[in-house]
Amino acid sequence: MTSAEPLILGIESSCDETGVGLVRGTELLTNTVSSSMAEHVRFGGVIPEIASRAHLDALVPTLEKALSDAGVSLADVDAIAVTSGPGLAGALMVGVSAAKALALATGKPLYAINHLVAHVGVGLLDPSIAARSTAGALPENLGALLVSGGHTEILRVRSIAEDVVLLGATIDDAAGEAFDKVARLLGLSYPGGPAIDALARAGSAKAIRFPRGLTAPKYMGTAEAPGPHRYDFSFSGLKTAVARCVEAFEAAGEEVPVADVAASFQEAVLDVITAKAVLACREHGLTTLLLGGGVAANSRLRELAAQRTAAAGITLLVPAMSLCTDNGAMVAALGAQLVMNGVAPSDLAFAPDSSMPVSSISL
Ligand code: KG4
Ligand code: ZN
Repeated sequence: MTSAEPLILGIESSCDETGVGLVRGTELLTNTVSSSMAEHVRFGGVIPEIASRAHLDALVPTLEKALSDAGVSLADVDAIAVTSGPGLAGALMVGVSAAKALALATGKPLYAINHLVAHVGVGLLDPSIAARSTAGALPENLGALLVSGGHTEILRVRSIAEDVVLLGATIDDAAGEAFDKVARLLGLSYPGGPAIDALARAGSAKAIRFPRGLTAPKYMGTAEAPGPHRYDFSFSGLKTAVARCVEAFEAAGEEVPVADVAASFQEAVLDVITAKAVLACREHGLTTLLLGGGVAANSRLRELAAQRTAAAGITLLVPAMSLCTDNGAMVAALGAQLVMNGVAPSDLAFAPDSSMPVSSISL
């Protein structure tokens, strides 16, 4: 099926946001999100079983609200798109089962979509980004830096519908997860990112020199002979270093300088993320970098990314925050691209894949 402006319903349930979005071509009609974040607060992190149950409760009301806000009916929709991975297996299962049921009941084609690629495709919906691109396409030579509670990845995007490559990723915790865990160590509320971001403004990023994960020459290598983790990240050592630092202050009977610890920790994360993203862009001829994921809200990340991309002659694109965090509109946006590029829909027999590789744009 090829259509100039297909109407796509997108469903997202890979983590703690139940998202339903409606997109016509590259035009955003509605982006309805229901989050179970509040239910995870007392655990200090997303509990998969609670997230799955919340998706079950939220899916139908969120779908109904999205359709009503957009003023369309299911019969008007040209295709349905759903996140099939990566993400929490049980959470993915809820969205995928709902999407399959809708596809079966309506006879509409179904697209099983990669969540990470959708984080990039969402750029097409942002008016400020669309204004820089030609005819509803993403910029050429595009890189993406995705940072959230679930992912920390650098991608190279030659074609959003056909050619996306993972250049680097975390080998342990995601960046947002590190913020959440360190916030907990410092006695701050969950989610930890916003709390650390705010507290760090009162502290010194130079107070404590925390380790920069996977930046030693043996991991980096050189441009000609890359090491095993040139564009990869690791935050678990950093988290341990923060814990040891806090313990040392406590053992000495001193008050923990929480603002300095927060600022120094934040700098250690963001220094590596921005440096490696810019390095990957330079070495792969990427001239535009799109930022995505919940950590894109971080004020220091925005500042550092802006400085370092500008110094390297790279254009930085940051979609509106409602499009950066997990949502259904990003799934619909990528679905629309697949439809417009004539990609075949998925076989309804597909299963969600919690570790779906980024090279697999749809199943
Ligand atoms: O994309 P998102 O809403 O959900 C997923 O993880 O999928 O991202 C949430 C993550 C949390 O780890 C949260 O602590 C982090 O994004 N975050 C931040 C900030 N705001 C949210 N991290 C650092 N600074 C912030 N201002
Ligand atoms: Zn995400």
